[in-house]
Amino acid sequence: MQMDTDFWGFLSPEDDSVVVMDLNYTSTRIQKMNQVLNPAGLNAIAIKTNPLIEVLRKLNNEGASFEAASMGEIAIAKAAGVPNNRIVFDSPVKTNLELAWLNSHFLGGYINADSFEDLQKMQNFSPEIQIGLRLNPSMNIHSPNSLNVSGANSKFGEVLGEISEKWIAKLTHFDRLDGLHVHQASQNSDFSNTIRGIRKVVDLANALPSGKIKFINMGGGLAFDYHRSKEADIDLYFNELKVACPELFDGTYQLITEFGRYYYAGGTAVYSRVEHVKEISNGRKLAIIHVGADMFLRESYNNSDWFHRLSVLSSTGEEVTRESRTLTYNYDVGGPLCFAGDIPFRNHELPEIRIGDWLKIHDAGANTFALWSRHCSRPFPLVLGLINGNYFVLKQRESLNDLVRFWGDERNL
Ligand SMILES: Cc1ncc(COP(=O)(O)O)c(C=O)c1O
Repeated sequence: MQMDTDFWGFLSPEDDSVVVMDLNYTSTRIQKMNQVLNPAGLNAIAIKTNPLIEVLRKLNNEGASFEAASMGEIAIAKAAGVPNNRIVFDSPVKTNLELAWLNSHFLGGYINADSFEDLQKMQNFSPEIQIGLRLNPSMNIHSPNSLNVSGANSKFGEVLGEISEKWIAKLTHFDRLDGLHVHQASQNSDFSNTIRGIRKVVDLANALPSGKIKFINMGGGLAFDYHRSKEADIDLYFNELKVACPELFDGTYQLITEFGRYYYAGGTAVYSRVEHVKEISNGRKLAIIHVGADMFLRESYNNSDWFHRLSVLSSTGEEVTRESRTLTYNYDVGGPLCFAGDIPFRNHELPEIRIGDWLKIHDAGANTFALWSRHCSRPFPLVLGLINGNYFVLKQRESLNDLVRFWGDERNL
C-alpha cells in the first residue's frame, strides 16, 4: 500500500531525512482560532515553535500575526515581511541596545516587559509602541515541569499575589503601561486553573484607572494529544474563558493569544532512513536513524514527558504493516549522535524494521527542528511543504559549506 509519500521524487541520495509540513493544517487552525476570538483580537503565533521563514512568509500573506521571543525572531519575522503591528515581542532578557533599536524600528508593535525594571526602561518609549507587563498569577498548572512557568520560582514575569492597593499604586505609577501579559505553561490541558490565572490578571486590569489597560495577552499553552486519542477542545476552552472573563470578548480589552504547538504539532511528519538495526536486551531491538537529539531534543532528554507515533515505510515508500512483515518487535529508536542519551523514542511495538526502511515520526512540527542542535555537526535536513496536495521545497538541505561557515570558516570546501 502506498503511503503519503508523493514527495519521494524531491529526495536525492544524500537526503537521509526529510521534514514534510502540511501548511493547510496550520491555515485551518489559524482560521479556527480567528473564529473563536473577537474581531479586534490578535492571534500571534509563537515563532519559537517553528521558525522556518518560508512558513512565516506564507502565513503572513494570509494575515497571521507572530510572537517573537528574541531579536533573532524579530529578524525572522521581518525577513518574512511581517509588519510591526502584527508582532508581539516577549523576549525575557532585553539589553539597552535592543531597547533603543526597538524604540526607533518597532513602531506599531507590542512589547511585553518581564519585570518592573524592564518596564521602567520603556517609560520614555514612543506612544506608537504598546507596552505590557508579564505577570505570574502563580497557579498550580498541570504540565511537564520544564514547560511550567507558573510556580513561585518561575524565572518569568512578576509574581502577582493579592490585588492590593500597593499593586494598584505601583502599576498606576507607570505612565507607559498599556497591557498585561500572562503565559503560564505549555502542553497544558488543565483549563480551569489556567483560566483562574487569566481571571486574576483581568481583575487587576479592572482595578486600575479606567482605560489604562488596553490589551490582555493570555499567552499560549494548549496541549497537543500526541497519542491522538483526545484532541484539545479549543471551543470548550474559549467557551469557559468567555464565561469567566467576558471582558476579553466584549471589547473591554483587546485579547492577544500566542499559541505555538496548537498551530504546528499535528501537520508535520519527519521521515528518516534506517541505517542500522541492532539487538539489545530481552529480545528488544534498536533501530538507528539519521535524526536524534539534534532534532528531538526534548524527547531525548525528557523521554518520559514526550511521545510520537511511529510508522515504518519500505525503502520505496510503501507502508509496512504487521501483516506484510509478519513479525513485530519492541523497538527503541536512536539517532546518529555520539552520546548515550541519543534515544528519542523508546519502547514502540512496530512491524519488523529492515535496514533501508524509513521511519515516519508523526506530529513532529512543534518544538522539534525548531530546537535544532549542532552537536556532532549534522546538516539540517530538507524541508518540504504541502499545500492543496502540491509539494514544494520550504528549505533546502543545509550544505556542508553552510555548516563549516556556522563554525567559523568562510572558505568553501
Ligand atoms: C511567552 C510564550 N508565549 C507563547 C508560547 C507558546 O506556547 P505553546 O506552544 O505552548 O502554545 C511560549 C512557549 O514557550 C511562551 O514562552
